[in-house]
Amino acid sequence: MALVSFRDVQKTYRSLQGIDYVAVERFSVEIEAGEFFCLLGPSGCGKTTVLKMLAGFEPPTAGRILMEGRPVMGASRDRGVVFQGDDSLYGWLSAVENVEFGLRMRGVGKTERRERAMRYLELVGLDGQQQKYPAELSGGMKQRIQIARALVNEPKMLLMDEPFAALDAQTRALMQGELASIWQAARTTVLFITHDIDEAVTLGSRIGVMRAGPRSQVKGVIEVALNGARSRTDDVFLRYYKQVYEMIRDEVAKSVARTT
Ligand SMILES: Nc1ncnc2c1ncn2[C@@H]1O[C@H](COP(=O)(O)OP(=O)(O)OP(=O)(O)O)[C@@H](O)[C@H]1O
Ligand SMILES: [Mg+2]
Repeated sequence: MALVSFRDVQKTYRSLQGIDYVAVERFSVEIEAGEFFCLLGPSGCGKTTVLKMLAGFEPPTAGRILMEGRPVMGASRDRGVVFQGDDSLYGWLSAVENVEFGLRMRGVGKTERRERAMRYLELVGLDGQQQKYPAELSGGMKQRIQIARALVNEPKMLLMDEPFAALDAQTRALMQGELASIWQAARTTVLFITHDIDEAVTLGSRIGVMRAGPRSQVKGVIEVALNGARSRTDDVFLRYYKQVYEMIRDEVAKSVARTT
């Protein structure tokens, strides 16, 4: 059984003017435990919509989303979410307090929660920075705290919505490398959203390409048979890049044509 199944999922938004917009329709995909699944698609196609539904923040209008065979009913610790940007950290809490916040809410004792928070701060390469407040940290560091904060709950799944989009190219490459090793070490299943082909081929074990909206669906899924460190200059990497590029090219063109 797949860890996650989207079965003919539809999401219709009603605008403030009362007009319906069908963002995704008959959206179906299965994600296996341990996968690093990248979901790629043009801007506005419905990627965040898909992630929010799996997170349990938005109910689907039709169809079913199952995790371990059970319908997703609201948010759960099983699914840790990391959003784009760093606005979600609490500015009045230090790095380690941000990471242990969820554990504190659940009543985990002080010593245990501090010990666990420190373990995950170390995993994301931030030991030594634990007493700093968000305002004293760089964008990349804040993004790592978000990841540590999601991982400390030991979720079955990590849902990431363009987590590195706001970072400069060097920090981004560094963070991608770190995420890849965290994934290797923790073996958490990941749903990673991006519109960057390079990022998807660098990180993904499978890449799902979405069609341009409205009524977006999965156009195709590409399995990336690359292990370990991936180099952007390898022939195989470039072959995957091209394959994904060809799949997404028309969708980006459609999406641009619809908004101009
Ligand atoms: N709360 C909402 N109310 C109405 N329409 C919405 C709402 N949220 C999203 N939409 C619409 O649904 C479509 C999909 O939005 P979504 O944010 O999922 O796209 P996306 O693929 O994540 O885009 P991006 O790459 O720009 O982040 C868009 O056309 C958007 O305008
Ligand atoms: Mg989005």
